[in-house]
Amino acid sequence: MCGIVGYIGPREAKPILIKGLKRLEYRGYDSAGIAILNDSLRVYKTKGKVADLERHIADKDLHGTIGMAHTRWATHGEPNDVNAHPHFSQNEELALIHNGIIENYAVLRESLMQNGYQFNSSTDTEVLIQLIHFIKKSANLSLFEAVRAALNQVIGAYAIVVMEKDNPNTLVAARNGSPLVVGIGKDEFFLASDASPIVEYTKDVVYLDDEEIAILERGQKLKVKTIKNIEKNPVVQKLELDISQLEKSGFEHFMLKEIFEQPVTIRDCMRGRINNNKTTISMAGIIDHLDKFLNARRIIITAAGTSWHAGLVGEYLLEELARIPVEVEYSSEFRYRNPIIYPDDIVIAISQSGETADTYAAIEMAKKRGAFIYGICNVVGSTIARFVDAGSYTHAGPEIGVASTKAFTAQVTVLTLMALALAQKKGTLTEERISQILHEMHTIPDKVAKILKKAEEIKEFSKIFTYARNFLYLGRGYNFPVALEGALKLKEISYIHAEGYPAAEMKHGPIALIDQEMPVVVIATNKGTYEKVISNIQEVKARKGRIISIITEGDTTVKDLSDFYVEIPETEEMLVPLLATIPLQLMAYYIAVLRGCNVDQPRNLAKSVTVE
Ligand code: G6P
Repeated sequence: MCGIVGYIGPREAKPILIKGLKRLEYRGYDSAGIAILNDSLRVYKTKGKVADLERHIADKDLHGTIGMAHTRWATHGEPNDVNAHPHFSQNEELALIHNGIIENYAVLRESLMQNGYQFNSSTDTEVLIQLIHFIKKSANLSLFEAVRAALNQVIGAYAIVVMEKDNPNTLVAARNGSPLVVGIGKDEFFLASDASPIVEYTKDVVYLDDEEIAILERGQKLKVKTIKNIEKNPVVQKLELDISQLEKSGFEHFMLKEIFEQPVTIRDCMRGRINNNKTTISMAGIIDHLDKFLNARRIIITAAGTSWHAGLVGEYLLEELARIPVEVEYSSEFRYRNPIIYPDDIVIAISQSGETADTYAAIEMAKKRGAFIYGICNVVGSTIARFVDAGSYTHAGPEIGVASTKAFTAQVTVLTLMALALAQKKGTLTEERISQILHEMHTIPDKVAKILKKAEEIKEFSKIFTYARNFLYLGRGYNFPVALEGALKLKEISYIHAEGYPAAEMKHGPIALIDQEMPVVVIATNKGTYEKVISNIQEVKARKGRIISIITEGDTTVKDLSDFYVEIPETEEMLVPLLATIPLQLMAYYIAVLRGCNVDQPRNLAKSVTVE
């Protein structure tokens, strides 16, 4: 969703804010804006990307050492110049940037209008700044007190930064449900939706918690109070982020860089979790709560998007290896359907960003009902990572391309390790079998690297499908979630409609769509159901569909039936998702690039969905 940056200190604010916005642009990119205060409070904003804002302000005088900036992902009101943030209050005395949704904005707006307030935009954000203004004026309060009083009237999610025309020494920021990080430098403060705009200036950060307000004042220490006015002691944490992780490092897009990082990220994810002899798995989150896991009646996995697909792979893994019943839920459904949750259930939340609003709400609800909550997150210090009872980080490093790639394979790696660790503790697999699988896991990064060498080959046949309007992806068993993920990647970034299906279900519907125009991607590496998948391929061919297959090295049968194929190295069936996903990511990437799409920032999508 929206990206927020703020700065107060001795330096010129504008370059810091613009650079910060660029780092956060993956969060939202339909409009952008900036506010800087010197002798007056200047606000400039425009529809479009950060580059459009840069052009818009190129000839403007924006000197000043206090300011804030925003990239928007529209919720209330279409993306245009007026609805872009920052928003002014009446008389342009205050300005606000906001990430989130004010749910009771209509009621608040109505009562403000009765008090003579007028509105320029159709946003909920403008309502909030007018409310702060109204409270400030009518009760003659300080900026902090007015923000605090207003937030007590607000229902919804927010991360906000507020500036005041007559107060060049203070920024006030607050959060509830949407992330906000304060960076602490020497005589200066930074604010951002995540740490990426901050890391090049300071590694000392404070993650604000829900209902906390930060007061950033020149020459003062950071003050944090709750909206109930309770003083908090801010806990300063050290960032472990490296600035080079935020650059494209010579790749044309972040997505391509992230696809190519996977041999390293999968290895990083396993590092320290498998012993040298490859006989045991140690995951602190499991060891510390072993009783819970050994006595779990059931595991419920809750997630959204690509993380939900990783959850489906997790279901196959945990049931097959550790013999624990698993259900996989869309967070957005789970949170609202009054589910039965037993105290001996374990709920696993999977989230790359650790900020997805539905997933957070789902685990909040499950926690209230007594479940033990485990998190699998990528972003260190994220809201979900801090909320869970225990968890494992995926260690994939910052993922900036909006379409998730390396985070998916890291999530699947963590789930595989968890399933094996539990299988070992429960004795559902022999020690010999565990060691065999761990040895094989160790070879996965090299096998991924081998598949990446086929990028040119994949690019070549991708050209042929640039004009396709539909795609079908088929897989069985562990390859069914891979088919779903392959289809999601393609539709997210190329805007070609794509559906993933369990191969055998094709005859119950999608087969009606097949003709010579329809490319069908079949992941045909299964051992148990190999013959059956071949029958599905024959069914497609009989209707003149075009087959693109993912096959095991040396398989000539499916190869001969395919129009195009990608060979992947042989591996254990349960580890195939870590390999079979790679060519599908590359194919989606090349088709999207050849269609001229913006792969890193696909239309309408956001990397971190902090609203429902
Ligand atoms: C958005 C992103 C997807 C992601 C999903 C869940 O839709 O565009 O790439 O899979 O959110 O995000 P999470 O951060 O919870 O994994």
